[in-house]
Amino acid sequence: MRAPMARCFVTRVLPGPALDGLRDRHEVDLWPDRLPPPYEELAARAAGAEGLLTTLTDRVDAALLEHCPDLRVISNYAVGHDNIDVHAAAARSIVVGNTPDVLTEATADMTFALLLAAARKLPEAVDSVRDGDWLTWEPGRYLGQAVAGATLGIVGLGRIGSAVARRAFGFNMTVLYTGGGPGSGAVRRVPLDRLLEESDFVTVHCPLTAATYRLFDAEALGRMRPSAILINTARGPIIDQEALRDALVAGQIGGAALDVTDPEPPPPDDPLLSTPNLIVVPHIGSATRVAREQMAELAVENLLAGLDGRPLPHQVRVAV
Ligand code: GLV
Ligand code: GLV
Repeated sequence: MRAPMARCFVTRVLPGPALDGLRDRHEVDLWPDRLPPPYEELAARAAGAEGLLTTLTDRVDAALLEHCPDLRVISNYAVGHDNIDVHAAAARSIVVGNTPDVLTEATADMTFALLLAAARKLPEAVDSVRDGDWLTWEPGRYLGQAVAGATLGIVGLGRIGSAVARRAFGFNMTVLYTGGGPGSGAVRRVPLDRLLEESDFVTVHCPLTAATYRLFDAEALGRMRPSAILINTARGPIIDQEALRDALVAGQIGGAALDVTDPEPPPPDDPLLSTPNLIVVPHIGSATRVAREQMAELAVENLLAGLDGRPLPHQVRVAV
């Protein structure tokens, strides 16, 4: 049965036609700007809404939800949902949806792009050509690290971690993992300490929770090999950025490549941005056209289902 028109606040313009389908069914208040609504504006608009379509840049906390008497569903345009207080939502019988699966391959591709770029010093090489420093073919410059046959440590072997493991097999890598995930004969589960000590590349694919906040602190980084490269396409706060910067400046680890930082973006004067052997890209793990359009489709399906009182195609389950 079709529910009557509901009021929805959508916090950002999304790629593809999905939002047209939402407009056909419901009253849509769409935030049109490149920057997300400031918290106060989000709170004010959410207060009158029955459905919210948010992105990972929108903080939906308990204080905000307190003033949303009609809100029934929050559809997050992301697989991660650390920006939403899902417990406060559940306490108010507000269902929360997310967009897994459709972004898995895109994010795994980006992980490998960063891994290869860091291993083979691509940013430096590109810069040196632009700077007119390509004098001749040189035997001893831009020497990077071998990826084929190296050991990859995956922290969190869920959907994305497993997709990264499949790519690693194509590179004949030894794959270790720690944390959640089903595993298989081809990957070896080891404690985090061992993974850090044995891996040439360490890649982060766990969600951000109280348990993973700053999982990569000075001690964890200190366990990594001096040549090791750390890749993060999950969430910025999983790494203690000051400790990472210290480790890179001291040459304690070989390099790092971050798709995510804390905060996002880092302020322009953040020393992180001038740290040696560090690549930072602007949270583009899922940024293929197909993935971002499918995320929009799924986010709208989740929202429509929630407004109709049907189960969401992808509902965030809250452990109580
Ligand atoms: C992106 O970071 C996402 O969680 O979808
Ligand atoms: C490099 O291009 C080589 O031929 O060794």
